[in-house]
Parts: sequence; structure tokens; C-alpha cells
Amino acid sequence: MTDADASDADTDAPADDSAADALSRREALKAAVAVGGATGLAACVDRLDGAEPVPAGDGPDAHPERQFAWNDFVRTDDAGNWQYPSHQTLLYLTFPREGPPADADREAVAGALDALDRAYAWSHEGLLHSAAYSPRYFERFGDPLAVPDDVSLPEPTPLADYETPEFDTQDVLVHLASDRPDALLAAERALTGDADEANGVSFPSALTDALEVDARRTGFVGAGIPRQKADGIEGIPADNPVPKASPLFMGFMAGFRQNQATEDDVTIGEGPFAEGTTKSVGNWRQRLSDWYGEQDHEQQVMEMFSPGHAVNDLVEGVGENLGDDSGIDRFTDEVVPNAKEYGRVGHAQKAARANRDGDGNPLLLRRHFESADEGIASLHFPSLQRSIDQFEGVRRAMNGVDATEATPAVRQRVNNGILEYIFVRHRGYFLVPPRSLRALPTPDGAAG
Ligand code: HEM
Repeated sequence: MTDADASDADTDAPADDSAADALSRREALKAAVAVGGATGLAACVDRLDGAEPVPAGDGPDAHPERQFAWNDFVRTDDAGNWQYPSHQTLLYLTFPREGPPADADREAVAGALDALDRAYAWSHEGLLHSAAYSPRYFERFGDPLAVPDDVSLPEPTPLADYETPEFDTQDVLVHLASDRPDALLAAERALTGDADEANGVSFPSALTDALEVDARRTGFVGAGIPRQKADGIEGIPADNPVPKASPLFMGFMAGFRQNQATEDDVTIGEGPFAEGTTKSVGNWRQRLSDWYGEQDHEQQVMEMFSPGHAVNDLVEGVGENLGDDSGIDRFTDEVVPNAKEYGRVGHAQKAARANRDGDGNPLLLRRHFESADEGIASLHFPSLQRSIDQFEGVRRAMNGVDATEATPAVRQRVNNGILEYIFVRHRGYFLVPPRSLRALPTPDGAAG
């Protein structure tokens, strides 16, 4: 697939025959990511005649120590907002024995991940990836995790009275992201032992020499892609109202640069896991018939951003006109007055209240992407922050309890941001160690 193909990825009508070929090749690749495994890859490789080579990597020592150092290696839009890779896969893996892993397990994992860094350039055109570890994994060792006092990594928990997520307590989460579906699939195939090479690099071992894949979840993000994927999936009205320009199913951009923590902000500063971070990953089912059927654009803006955004007409279309800042800080003190005056409050407005440090900078670095796995519209919500309690604080602020107490018009899940339309299915918490400790680390950081 060439850059030119990629850039027209979201148009519906190919201009000529070669564009038509490119489009069908691209569709085949996207379908292959969703299918995955050997069948998906075979379908994908068959379609790759004439595709651009995928850039090779420089090896683990040359790639950033922060496994989550993605921002300098992805595309940005005209306003400088980071645009994360179009295709992403989450592999949840378990260690199949009681107790801690052995050195041989660690070597197998290190061999596979190091080979990945040789195979693919650290960029959206190659492959961005990270390996992260759950609290349950570290418990295997019986020793405390050597992180500073202000870093928490608890077991996941419900964050609203009505939430019933299934908790992801698998040992390891490997996150793969690329604009190239063929690279994503070939990498996964080598990591899971279906191939012994990827992008011309031989893999001495696979993750599955030590671990078992428990769950595989896929997704996508970027203007136009959700609309293309929305046809016929559960949660999206049959007439597919998802705007062409929208990077997400709900019809708005998210992740404005000024409303995101920087990578520096979320980095653990001291101890053996310095240059690491914590990662919360939720999966949220979306039911958007009322979102699109009963709400006009102004009402959507009220519930997604704030009533102030709606009455001041601040959001055009998907919100590109906002530039690199949603402008939410003007409205974070207005939650209760807005509830009383408009009978509605905004999602961003509520969440942002808890998403600032003492200097007013955001705490969370959100990297959401959509999914059509199992034919259901859902959002994968990975969020990086220095400490998991920061994520929990923000999620609880989304409950808008003060707004529900201020007026009967705002209820737990009605007129209360976007809570009426999204339902958490999975939640897991992980530590993302520095690259040099990413292979089955011990909690004291002595090995990994
Ligand atoms: C389908 C689900 C979701 C969609 C479509 C969505 C979309 C958005 C949009 C459009 C904004 C405003 C623009 C921006 O600053 O990015 C926003 C803000 C925000 N969202 Fe979500 N969101 C979803 C779920 C969540 C969840 C589960 C959390 C969990 C904590 C969350 C946390 C935040 C935060 C913290 C902000 C405010 C950013 C700030 O501090 O200024 N969102 N979201």
C-alpha cells in the first residue's frame, strides 16, 4: 500500500482503475486485521503485490527507552494534534504457570520483542508497540513493586455504582499500532509463533514460547474509517449517520493537544521503572441510536463538550475548528449551574475538572481508538498517566454526581454527558516499564 493509497483511504469513490485496485487492496487489508491469525495474513499477503516496503527498525537500543514515546513518531494534523496509527491490536497474554516466570521465559519474551524492534521502524509507517504488566503479574513474585510513593497500580475496580466491567487481569498486555495493516498482522504472526520472521527479520523466539494469548482485540481510528466500518454493526443506526470527517463513531474529534498530558507529564521519574508509566485500558460498548436519532448537533455538543460550547457556537462539525484546544477550561466551574439552567452537562466539562495538576496541566494522555470486533461498535480507551489513581479520579468525575444532586433533569445516565450511550465492558490496569525492562520484569527491576 502506498502513501497515496493511504491518503485516499477515506474517500468513497475511486477516481480511476488504479485507485479502485488500491481501494480493494486496502479493504482486504483492513478486513485481514479484523480476522487476524494465519487466515487473515494469507489474505493480506496475497493482496500485497506492488506494496511499498515497510521501513525497517534500528533495534531496541536505538528505539526510545519510553515504550510509550509515540508522539514524536506519528502524524499530526494542521493544528499539531497527534494522530495515532490507523490500525491497532491489543494482545492480552497470560503466563500459564503458578509463581514467577523463569529466566528462559524472560529470554523468549526479550528475543521476540527485540526482533520486533529490528523488523520495524519506530513510527506509524513501521510499528509502534509496548508491553505492559498487570498488578496480578507482579503479585506472582510476592515482593512490592519498586515505584515511587506517588505511583499506584491497584487491581481494577468499578468506578460507578452501575458499572459491571469484566476485569482484565491477564499478566501482559502487548499493544501494536501501525498505519500499515500488513505490518501489524505480520508482527502479530511472528509474536504468536505463526511465523518465524517478520519484515525480513528472523525471530529467535515468540511471546507464545512463554505466554498464552487470552484475548485479541483490534481497532482503528482516523477521519473516515469509523464511517466505513459502521455499516451493519451493532450500536450504529442502520442509516450510518457517522460523519465522514469523524475519527470516532460519535462524530467528534478527541485528544486536542492542549487537553492531553505530555509524555513527560505521565512518566515515572524515579526508581528502576523510571521512564515507564501506568496504563489503564477500558473497552466501552456504544449504543448510538438515540445519540444520532434524538439529538441535533447542538445537543450533541452540549453533552460531549459543555452547554457553554453549544450556546456560544464553538464547535463546527467534528470540531476541527477548535484547533489544538477544546477550550473546556472556561466551563469546568459551570457544571452545577449548567445542570440547573440547561438540564444537561458535558462529558469533557465533567472529566476535565479532575484532569488538571496544580499548574492546570492535564494528567491523562488519552489514546482512544474504535473497534468493530464481534460486529459491535466499541471504543478502546487506553489512557496513560503517572499513577492509576489519577485515571480513577477523572473517571469518577465523569459520574457528575453533583449535577445529579442539583436537578432531577440530570440523572445517573441521562443528560449526564455521554453516559447514556457508552457501557464499559472491560477494564485493566498495567505498568508500562521502560524498554530495557519490558521482558517479564521482576518487581524490583533487577531483571526484565
Ligand atoms: C465513546 C467514548 C468516548 C468518547 C467518544 C469521548 C470523546 C471525547 C471528546 C470529543 C472530548 C472533548 C475533546 C478532548 O479534549 O478530547 C473528550 C474529553 C475528555 N474525555 Fe472522553 N470520550 C469517551 C470516553 C471517555 C472515557 C471513558 C474517559 C475516562 C476517563 C474519558 C476522558 C476524557 C477526559 C479526561 C476529557 C477531557 C479532557 C480535558 O481535560 O480537557 N473519555 N472525550
